[in-house]
Amino acid sequence: MKPVELKPGICWTGAIDWAIRDFHGYYIPKGTSYNNYLVLDDEPVLIDGVKLDFASTCIQNIEAVVPPSKIRHLIVNHIEPDHGGALSRLIELMPGVPVYCTQKGRDGLARFHDTSKWNFRVVKTGDTLNTGKKTFLFIETPMLHWPDSMMTFLREDRILFSQDGFGQHIASTQRFDDEFVACASMAELEDSVWDYYANILMPFGPVIKGKLEELGRLGVEPEMIAPAHGVIWRKEPGKVLRTYQDMAAGKTDERVVIVYDTMWGGTGRMAQPIMQGLKDEGMDCRVIKLRETPTSVAIKEFWRARGCIVGSPTLNGHIFPYVGQFLIYLRGLKPKNRIVGAFGSYGWGGVAVKEIMETFGELKLECFAETLTTNYAPALSDQAAAYEFGRKFAQAAREYHKKFS
Ligand code: FEO
Repeated sequence: MKPVELKPGICWTGAIDWAIRDFHGYYIPKGTSYNNYLVLDDEPVLIDGVKLDFASTCIQNIEAVVPPSKIRHLIVNHIEPDHGGALSRLIELMPGVPVYCTQKGRDGLARFHDTSKWNFRVVKTGDTLNTGKKTFLFIETPMLHWPDSMMTFLREDRILFSQDGFGQHIASTQRFDDEFVACASMAELEDSVWDYYANILMPFGPVIKGKLEELGRLGVEPEMIAPAHGVIWRKEPGKVLRTYQDMAAGKTDERVVIVYDTMWGGTGRMAQPIMQGLKDEGMDCRVIKLRETPTSVAIKEFWRARGCIVGSPTLNGHIFPYVGQFLIYLRGLKPKNRIVGAFGSYGWGGVAVKEIMETFGELKLECFAETLTTNYAPALSDQAAAYEFGRKFAQAAREYHKKFS
């Protein structure tokens, strides 16, 4: 895709990755983009790189705007290889160019590239770069989501180059939020924002809250937010800022998701009356069988719901592996502000439900007092108990949800 102008003299020069579905294990059904930006001024500036596989595409886009040798400054907001991978190739075309990044960025880049000849300029929050008529303000954002991360605010044009923050894994010919919404919908765009946050940023809610406040203190009021993935927010930058504030504050839908797997159908047959009990209490509910669903999709559904009930059979004295994979992923994401419960089946020596609740206890989530187990296969009385379990869980989830309204 050719360069796209954000404003006169400010261009997207990145690449669209239509084919990718596995992003370091995170399933991204819509593909993604690697966004970088070129700002023309007395001294032209390139902001960020792209994934190495797309170096040639990016170079072609830059050359369509300005010869790379004319670029006078390179800002590296984030070093992860989906952005930093092509930096060596880019810097070859602009030898000696000053490279602006955080100290952690410099340290990390030295692990991915031979940086012995790179001309680093380490920056901190509040440092600026003047390129003639434009001023770039640097804002460190450590652990959003790597230690090196930072954002750059172009003051005169009020554009926040936000690296991974506010991004979405979407490959599309639309480069702006309003264009995407016209072709798809705001609900689809928002769902991609929730998906991205759930799988990449969930552990960093408190950091996000603090950084959003800091942006306000620094006078960063963007009229456009240009992330490193997905569409650029030019019509509704305030909407994605509010969505991030809401997620960091624990807001979500009043919904319960049942996440389970099953061996001979016993646990699966309990999921159905639990779902019915939830529904009959008026609770929105979704059901996910883990073996049929990418873990990252289950995580997004977890994050979009106030409550989650996890079901597992016991296999070889432990939790069922597909359920274990979900819980291991969840443990790393350190979720907060969710009410959780567990159910399952066993043949002898059932422990899966206990292990699920222990994981939830370690995560300090709101644990529903009751659990539900059945031996081998649920009898009618077990199914009736599962229905009641669903009803009571819905009541508890609704009560808990009130804390966030
Ligand atoms: Fe898109 Fe953290 O890299």
